[in-house]
Amino acid sequence: MRKPRIHGKLAGMVQCVTVIGLGYVGLPTAALLASRGIRVHGVDTSAAVRATLAAGRIHIAEADVEALLERALRAGLFTVHAAPQPAEVFVIAVPTPLGEGRAPMLDHVMDATRALAPALKSGDLVLLESTSPIGTTAEIAALLLELRPELDDLAIAYGPERVLPGRILTELVENDRVAGGLTPEATRRAIEFYRLFVRGAVHGTDAATAEMVKLSENAFRDVNIAFANELSLIAGQHDLDVWRVIELANRHPRVNILKPGPGVGGHCIAVDPWFLAHGAPEAARLIPAARAVDEAKRQSVLEQASALCTAGERVICLGLAFKGDVDDLRESPALAIASELARRHPGRVVAVEPHLDAAPAGLEAPLVSLDAALERPGALLVLTDHSVFARLPPSALAGRRIIDTRGIFRRQEETA
Ligand SMILES: NC(=O)c1ccc[n+]([C@@H]2O[C@H](COP(=O)([O-])OP(=O)(O)OC[C@H]3O[C@@H](n4cnc5c(N)ncnc54)[C@H](O)[C@@H]3O)[C@@H](O)[C@H]2O)c1
Repeated sequence: MRKPRIHGKLAGMVQCVTVIGLGYVGLPTAALLASRGIRVHGVDTSAAVRATLAAGRIHIAEADVEALLERALRAGLFTVHAAPQPAEVFVIAVPTPLGEGRAPMLDHVMDATRALAPALKSGDLVLLESTSPIGTTAEIAALLLELRPELDDLAIAYGPERVLPGRILTELVENDRVAGGLTPEATRRAIEFYRLFVRGAVHGTDAATAEMVKLSENAFRDVNIAFANELSLIAGQHDLDVWRVIELANRHPRVNILKPGPGVGGHCIAVDPWFLAHGAPEAARLIPAARAVDEAKRQSVLEQASALCTAGERVICLGLAFKGDVDDLRESPALAIASELARRHPGRVVAVEPHLDAAPAGLEAPLVSLDAALERPGALLVLTDHSVFARLPPSALAGRRIIDTRGIFRRQEETA
C-alpha cells in the first residue's frame, strides 16, 4: 500500500473535479459540484451522452438536474470530455454490472482508472463511487502505482452512493455518507470533499469497510424482501392474505417486515448481493438463498398468470418497470414475467406501461394504454405499483380476475 505523505489541503480548497461516468450517479454529482462554484470536467465514453449534455439536455430521468446542468454550462463551470482532464479530485462513477457466472464485472472501473492515470498529479484524490466488491479500491491503487509509480502521495478512497432514483439531487445532499480511504489521510481528504456538498453526516472509515457497507445495505434489502416474498408464498398455500399477516406482525414493536412483490429489480438490489457472495462463497449462505427465493417468487407469479391464459383468459400486465412511478426496466421482474407470459401464450397478453412509448425489445405483447386495455375483458396482473394503477376506480376492477403482486388494490380498499 502507498505510504501516505501529508499534504495539508484545507476544506473548501477544491477548485476542480473530474467526474468519470455521467449517468445517474455521476451527472447529478457533477451538476451539484458545479452549482457550488467548483469547475467540473465531466467524462463519458458514450458520444451520445456527451452530445446530449453539451447541448444542455440530460439523458436520465431526473428532472431537476437539467436546470443545474444548464446553469453550470452557461457559467462555464461544466465541460464534457471523452477523456479525463487534470483536476484535484477524480470521481469514478461508472457501471459495475454482473459478468459471467454472476461475478462482478470491473472492466469499466479499471478502464476509467487507466484513462485517468495520465491526468493525475502529486496529491490528487481519486474517489471510487461505483458499487464495488471488497478490495476494488486497493486494486485501483495497485493499478495506479503500476501506471504512475512516481506518484507516491495520491489519496485513494471509496465513497459509496446511496441515492434513490427520482430523488437523486435531494439525497445527494441530505443522505449520510461513508468515506473510506486506503490511508487515514485519504479518508480525511474524502470526508473533506463530501463536506463541500453533503448536509448529512459523513462517516470516515477504511476503504474495504466502506465497500462492504454499501454491499451490506443492498443485501439487507434483498434478504428482507425475500423474507416477505417467502411469507407470501407460504400464505398463498394456506389461502391467507399475506398483506394482513404482515400488517399485524408489524404491530410488534420490534418487527418490521418489508413488502412482498413479484421479485426484486433494478441494477442495485438484484445485483449487489452477488458481489458479497462471490467474494466469500463458503460463508455466504443466506444471500444466495434470498436470490433463490426471489426467483421462486417470480416463477410462482408467472405460473399463476400462465394458468389463467391456459384457461382462456386474456391477461393485462399492469407495469413493466421494476418499481412504481419510474421508467426503469433494468433487471425488472415485471418485464421478465410479462415477456415470458407473452412468449408462452401468444395473442393472450397485453402490457400497460404508462412510462414507455413503445414495447421494449423482447416483449412479444402489444403495449397499450390503460384505457384501451380496460375497454376489453381480461384478468389484471399487477406487476408494478404505479400510482395511476392504484387510482383505478372499483368499476374498472369489477368482474375481473386479479393477481395483485403489489397489494395496490388491497391498499385502495383500506383507504376506502
Ligand atoms: N443509479 C443509482 O441509483 C445508483 C445508486 C447507488 C450506486 N450506484 C452505482 O453507481 C455506479 C454508476 O451507476 P449509474 O446508475 O450512474 O450508471 P449509468 O449507467 O447511469 O451511467 C454510467 C455512465 O458511465 C459511462 N461509462 C462507462 N464506462 C466508462 C468509462 N470507462 N469512462 C467514462 N465513462 C464510462 C456510461 O457511458 C454511462 O453514461 C454503479 O456502480 C452503480 O451500481 C448507482
